[in-house]
Amino acid sequence: MTADAIWAALDTHRAATAGRPILSLFDDPGRAADFTARLPTAEGDLLIDYSKTAIDAAARGLLLDLIAAAGVAARRDAMLAGEPVNETEGRAVLHTLLRGGAAAGVRADWAADVATTRARLTAFADAVRSGAFAGAGGAFTDVVNIGIGGSDLGPAMAVPALAPYVDGPRAHFVSNVDGAHVADVLRPLDPCRTLAVIVSKTFTTVETMANAAAVRDWLAAGGVAEPAAQMAAVSSAAHRAADWGIPADRVFGFGDYVGGRYSVWGPVGLTLMMAIGPAAFGRFLDGGRDMDRHFAAAPPAGNLPMLLAATGLWHTQVCGYPTRAVLPYDQRLARLPAYLQQLEMESNGKGVAMDGAPLARPSAAVVWGEPGTNAQHAFMQAVHQGTQVVPVEILIARRGHEPHLAHQHRMLAANALAQAEALMRGRSFETARAMLAARGVATADLDRQARHRVFPGNRPSVVIAYPMLTPYMLGVLLALCEHRVFVEGAVLGLNSFDQWGVELGKELALSLEPMLAGADDPARDGSTRALAAWLGG
Ligand code: F6P
Repeated sequence: MTADAIWAALDTHRAATAGRPILSLFDDPGRAADFTARLPTAEGDLLIDYSKTAIDAAARGLLLDLIAAAGVAARRDAMLAGEPVNETEGRAVLHTLLRGGAAAGVRADWAADVATTRARLTAFADAVRSGAFAGAGGAFTDVVNIGIGGSDLGPAMAVPALAPYVDGPRAHFVSNVDGAHVADVLRPLDPCRTLAVIVSKTFTTVETMANAAAVRDWLAAGGVAEPAAQMAAVSSAAHRAADWGIPADRVFGFGDYVGGRYSVWGPVGLTLMMAIGPAAFGRFLDGGRDMDRHFAAAPPAGNLPMLLAATGLWHTQVCGYPTRAVLPYDQRLARLPAYLQQLEMESNGKGVAMDGAPLARPSAAVVWGEPGTNAQHAFMQAVHQGTQVVPVEILIARRGHEPHLAHQHRMLAANALAQAEALMRGRSFETARAMLAARGVATADLDRQARHRVFPGNRPSVVIAYPMLTPYMLGVLLALCEHRVFVEGAVLGLNSFDQWGVELGKELALSLEPMLAGADDPARDGSTRALAAWLGG
């Protein structure tokens, strides 16, 4: 069957089964086991339970057929071998190389370059952690990572995720061009013991350059005679870092085959490496590499990134649900939804296929979320009873890092499972009515009150469960998410590795700055001119 024919078959199957309760699929006693993918890892099994979705054996078969018909395996192999699969920019896509997993065919000089840079990063991180490289006031107590987008979100998510492993300097992150961000981050810090890392692949991003200048001024004002002596840079544009006075031995580059949102595994992860140490950072890379190997070799029916992508394709492109909520029942993954927003929406939020033709199906879902259980006391009301169906992805560890609070981890897990169960099971009008009647609600008011307590149910969720949130497991999980995005993008036939959609706003912001300083531009619309005049006045 062609991909078009498979999409049509999926639509037909969806239409035929849309009214069937997900719960009824559990009439098959093998449902849970059959629709849970399990991957043995170096730290125990990783589970993806997608049994509480409407995907049945026929749908799964069609989704896997679709992945095959779209040529995902060949495209994956091309990516891993370093072919220029980022076709609109003519670039290879080799973040996998940063994890040490050079596949056959990858240029040897690139692999050597990655290894050399990793050794330099390790030496630098060790020097900072030991105090061998220190600030004007002694060993660095704090590191400020200055970057935005992919030069921020990876380490900003991973440092709190791995808090139990942090034994180096405290890490802080400044991204927003809003001066409030840099001001608030710097206020409690000692300039003489703070290291600033400017992270910008291009070293031209205006937000980052503005914040870097603010930090340099703060260091100088705080008594650091030579601010550049307390700065390092992560950039592919070493000459621009040199213009800033940062010596080459403190500049860490990477090739254009690593996209910003895929870059936490290399020099962009420097702040993370300083926080948790090179050995733990190595475990993080090991986890990513093990997932790469699985993705490269496992047959589609047992391939976790492919199966997770299948759930995404089903919910977004077949069922037409426009958003997906990511709920880490893991407080330390609080920034994961923000990280995934860039990973998924900057990668797959496109309007045209690789050949420029408009996409026939919706592109990336709007990804959003917050840690459970906080989400339950905020927006989960709408997910349970609102009129839009929101597929939910729940992440939960089997064990926490706080053995003395194991009872709280049980409460956390119970809440995670309760959400998934409640979304699927719902509560009927009859049940709600009987419940209220038993509580003595007046008969005249029973129907009205019961309607407010009905849960439609039949709402899908996927549970991703892992042994413990260690550096290794974080690597496994992030690589799983990356490859899932790759599979979805490949099936949709779009380029997951460019981001032209961020350009127009950047250009317009630059041309608007003079208007905020008093100039007028009659060629612009009345709203923009009036607001610029008011804000700049
Ligand atoms: O937002 C667009 C983008 O290009 C992202 O893809 C990237 O991660 C971010 O800007 C930062 O870019 P740079 O590292 O060059 O400062």
